[in-house]
Amino acid sequence: MQPVIQFEDVVKIYPLKAGDVTALNHISFEVQRGEFISIMGPSGSGKSTLLNLIGCLDTPTSGDIFVSGTRVRAMNDVELTKLRRDRIGFVFQYFNLFPLLNVIENVNFPQMLKSGKDVNPDKAKEVLHAVQLEEQFYTHTSTELSGGQQQRVAVARALINDPDILLCDEPTGNLDSKTGASIMELMTELNRKGATIICVTHDPTVAKYSDRTIRIVDGCIAS
Ligand SMILES: Nc1ncnc2c1ncn2[C@@H]1O[C@H](COP(=O)(O)OP(=O)(O)O)[C@@H](O)[C@H]1O
Ligand SMILES: [Mg+2]
Repeated sequence: MQPVIQFEDVVKIYPLKAGDVTALNHISFEVQRGEFISIMGPSGSGKSTLLNLIGCLDTPTSGDIFVSGTRVRAMNDVELTKLRRDRIGFVFQYFNLFPLLNVIENVNFPQMLKSGKDVNPDKAKEVLHAVQLEEQFYTHTSTELSGGQQQRVAVARALINDPDILLCDEPTGNLDSKTGASIMELMTELNRKGATIICVTHDPTVAKYSDRTIRIVDGCIAS
């Protein structure tokens, strides 16, 4: 079977005035379709850099990344935009919702990017139902929601275009343990329905939900 993600000898160097920072140092690995992967490692080890490269938000200094067998380096801007918009969902530690938009508007945003004005009005409700946010909150702005509710909205937004790859960077990092557990159960449920999930965390409790852990230390895969 073709891996959904494949890294071949990937290096990421951030050039800084004070000296180059090697964030990823010759990384190779594969993720198969339908896997639930956790990426663990100390702070500064390169986890977010790795996730950003998987999500094609950034490009490697050297090496190659393949998504479903397609070499990312060979894709043009239009193809990359489509890939990010239609196949990849992102969930961030700080939720990254638009504060002035209400819940429905936040969730619909990627759908608008995809189809212009012709958004399916039922789709936002469907994904909000999936993340179990009560309807009474749908017209609230994100500033009127708790952290756990905001993260549910962020997950719903990540799901609106039916991505087959869900990338999460410390999705429970700003939640209490009970709310964090319910977000992770939600991920597990999405994974059961077929999504490939890659979740960065430094929390072993979170990693327990995954099938497999990739450990990163100083930009290298440790095991
Ligand atoms: N945009 C950037 N510019 C310069 N250095 C960066 C940038 N992003 C990350 N780094 C550096 O790369 C290394 C890995 O960072 P990061 O991937 O954020 O690690 P983690 O997510 O594991 O904490 C760190 O030394 C960090 O300071
Ligand atoms: Mg990070």
